[in-house]
Amino acid sequence: MTDDIAALFVENRSYPPPADFAATANAQPEIYDQDPDAFWERAGRERVTWFTPFERLSEWNPPYAKWYIGGTLNACYNCVDRHVEAGAGEKVAYYWEGEPTGDRSVFTYATLQQNVVRFANTLKRLGVRKGTPVAIYLGMVPELPIAMLACARLGAPHTVVFGGFSAESLSGRMNDMGCEVLVTQDEAWRRGRPVALKQVADEAMASAPGVHGCMVVRRTGGEVSMREGRDVFYHEASAGESDDPATCPCEPMDAEDLLFLMYTSGTTARPKGIVHTTGGYLVGTSATHHHIFDIKPDTVYWCAADIGWITGHSYIVYGPLCNQTTSVLYEGTPDQPDKDRWWEIVERYGVTVLYTAPTAIRTHMKWGPEYADRHDLSSLRLLGSVGEPINPEAWVWYRTHIGGGRTPVVDTWWQTETGMILITPLPGITTLKPGSAARPFPGVEAAVYNNEGKEVPPGAGGYLVLKRPWPAMLRGIFNDPDRYVETYWSRFPGVYFAGDGARIDADGDLWLMGRVDDVMNVSGHRISTIEVESALVDHPEVAEAAVCGRADAITGQAIVAYVTLKGGLDGSPDKLAELREHVAGKIGRIAMPANIVFTPDLPKTRSGKIMRRLLRDVADHRKLGDTTTLADPAVVQEIQARAAAGDAKEE
Ligand code: WT7
Repeated sequence: MTDDIAALFVENRSYPPPADFAATANAQPEIYDQDPDAFWERAGRERVTWFTPFERLSEWNPPYAKWYIGGTLNACYNCVDRHVEAGAGEKVAYYWEGEPTGDRSVFTYATLQQNVVRFANTLKRLGVRKGTPVAIYLGMVPELPIAMLACARLGAPHTVVFGGFSAESLSGRMNDMGCEVLVTQDEAWRRGRPVALKQVADEAMASAPGVHGCMVVRRTGGEVSMREGRDVFYHEASAGESDDPATCPCEPMDAEDLLFLMYTSGTTARPKGIVHTTGGYLVGTSATHHHIFDIKPDTVYWCAADIGWITGHSYIVYGPLCNQTTSVLYEGTPDQPDKDRWWEIVERYGVTVLYTAPTAIRTHMKWGPEYADRHDLSSLRLLGSVGEPINPEAWVWYRTHIGGGRTPVVDTWWQTETGMILITPLPGITTLKPGSAARPFPGVEAAVYNNEGKEVPPGAGGYLVLKRPWPAMLRGIFNDPDRYVETYWSRFPGVYFAGDGARIDADGDLWLMGRVDDVMNVSGHRISTIEVESALVDHPEVAEAAVCGRADAITGQAIVAYVTLKGGLDGSPDKLAELREHVAGKIGRIAMPANIVFTPDLPKTRSGKIMRRLLRDVADHRKLGDTTTLADPAVVQEIQARAAAGDAKEE
């Protein structure tokens, strides 16, 4: 991108915090007056219990940070055991709702502890020790947070792979991390149908020879094949195992020991293993969770994300449990059995805080407010949004129809890499503007830079950067220090480059404007154009592919692929379906193109570079930009005509 980002959008509505909310809010206005170091020092002492207290707050050797130096702790101890020891064993940690109606269970902190201890003891049988990398490929079953906490208890780093990813994605991650054990389940419930996770796991393990043990959680009871000597059912293997915490003490970990890797897409075909460590991550997630979601002892909190993404790690598992929160965990989709399922859940448990993504809000908007109207949602006092820029209309709809016109809506900006929310309103302080994520969280310093690395004045747009390290920040890309430097620390010297466009308004509020690199955002999930292109070109009949995102009313962006088949063949609808399945097989169903346009040629510059900007213009039906640098301008007209024919068919 050569031009500085134009910031044209103007939104004038604003919502001051309700007086009663402001009066009792965890975060009061003085919170912004604190010195960042003092803020994080205090958060480090208040939010986490250390086995050995930290000696120094932080160390910054660009681009590497360390936090809470010398401190030792255990994430599971902080999330579970200490609450039981403090007498909160009877408090509910999770209300779990399965997708099939009526399928529910309740975990108090005491029963969560028993389950975690038994799970950890069973993992030990498979050889898991401090430092053993464990992969977790589960749907939203209680065993997912239980397995993560069991790993944390033992000091075994985990990587959770979202259940929608393919065998190849799973094996790629397991091989990259060197995983020795995999935890999966027979089948997961998704949209009323069982999805065969163990079968995908079998395929993945076939090309991940380092995995010598596989623990299978039984969910549906569906048929699975078990390999002797490698695979065990959890319910069988755990039968004789103790759930007494004394049999499995929490391993003391250094603040900087690896807690987990979370793989995420970048601008190449290979996902990056984002490194998150223990102390800073726990302080950062719990401090933000406490202040932004205004967590009180009686809060019933529901983050409707999947634990397979960073949102679930930070704001379903580690942050909320560290804060002794009562949460809802829901296994399925929002339309099972009907489109009011979410609102039924809110009413049943008296949910007070709901955190979800714009794509979900727009889906509910499309279905209409009558589904929410069927239920009493008056327990809600705060709503949150994350994953992509939220359109002001969706924001206002959310506040009006879900929040009853009373609740603040916090639009929270962050990334897999940041580990914790960095830019956000604080609900008892901030005057909200629909579509603005407001300000850096206390202790966080952000800015918007122009192309030359100068801070832009109010009203202007540019690139979002972070000017000082924060506790939950990534500590690197697993096994790839060069890529770490190149991706985040090379665009502008000395600051973290987020890859997002942003605008700063006259009040100093930030408006996030989407990715500025070759990364798409589909339903709040990051997908790399090049990853999808590589998956397409992997098909034996594909000669070339170019992928871009187009605007989509529900998913934010949808994936459009332009494909040239070998031998100048013309694509048929069957070929289109086959290629979509091929991408699903390589990456996962989330990466399937919404549309594929077959074309005899892709628009290229004379030096052979694909002009993505033009493809984006075609996909979004925009007037085409400059085509003079193209080797053959006629190609674009051809593509436009084919795309238009395809759109007509889609409708
Ligand atoms: C990218 C990070 C962090 C959890 C979900 C996604 C976009 C995220 C917002 C927001 C505008 C947002 C950014 C960011 N994004 N939240 N409130 N407003 N954009 O995690 O997959 O690591 O993606 O999501 O583009 O860079 P992720």
